[in-house]
Amino acid sequence: MDTRPIGVFDSGLGGLTALRELARIMPEEDLVYFGDTGRVPYGGRSREILVRYARQDVAFLRSFQPKAVVIACGTVSTTALDVLREENDIPIFGVVESAAHAAAQLTRNGRVGLIGTKASIRSGAYERALAALRPGVEVTARACPLLVPLVEDGRFRPGDSVAETVVAEYLAPVRAAGVDTLILGCTHYPLMKPLMGAYMGPETALVDVGEQCARWVKRQLELDGLRNGRPGAGRRRFFVSDSTEDFSALASVFLGEDVRGGVEQIDITAY
Ligand code: DGL
Repeated sequence: MDTRPIGVFDSGLGGLTALRELARIMPEEDLVYFGDTGRVPYGGRSREILVRYARQDVAFLRSFQPKAVVIACGTVSTTALDVLREENDIPIFGVVESAAHAAAQLTRNGRVGLIGTKASIRSGAYERALAALRPGVEVTARACPLLVPLVEDGRFRPGDSVAETVVAEYLAPVRAAGVDTLILGCTHYPLMKPLMGAYMGPETALVDVGEQCARWVKRQLELDGLRNGRPGAGRRRFFVSDSTEDFSALASVFLGEDVRGGVEQIDITAY
């Protein structure tokens, strides 16, 4: 039994898609979330900057003595996972491996769509993982830089005409390629799942990378004997690097619980 918390981070709100699933399937675990809202979006930045930000994010979370850290960010997972693993002596989980496994299993026609930030698509990480699991799989990838700012601004619901237009433009070539599985390779995108599902149609399976990662983390913690066996609900703590208001309001809606009193602002550059 290990009662230490699990640290989770993202550039902003997106990682909450992983946190929600972690909390659902491991309700007794303590979770500490950091959203780097002062520096979002990460997706257009260079590897050098991303590694610097990711090191600070992990250093902040490590001040809570976590038993593991979940990189609930596609961009950091595809770009800095190797560095973070090398530098830390606790398990560091990214979102790529678990999503690739899910997609390799789900696709029937071997055509997989992939959407993500510029940095994630540029990395080729999902393609490499898929090729190792299912050789010959055809990947149609598309960078979608406008989606993260839209989600951070709360513009992700069906009926939002701007969000619908942008999603349709990004997904048109992916749909035209005849994919039957679409990896939402950025943890912000599942907030747009209803909208994307409506555009792609019911035959396309949508892979939520945060959700898949959370299940993977649970299995690994079990295998490593790191689960918290204590009964009762775990504690959730939220930290951001910019004002807490917008984050708190949207996070409360998304998580289905009022987190407004529980979000604190920190200076991430101090780590
Ligand atoms: N949620 C992050 C990801 O999964 C968003 C990156 C960004 O801030 O651009 O890639």
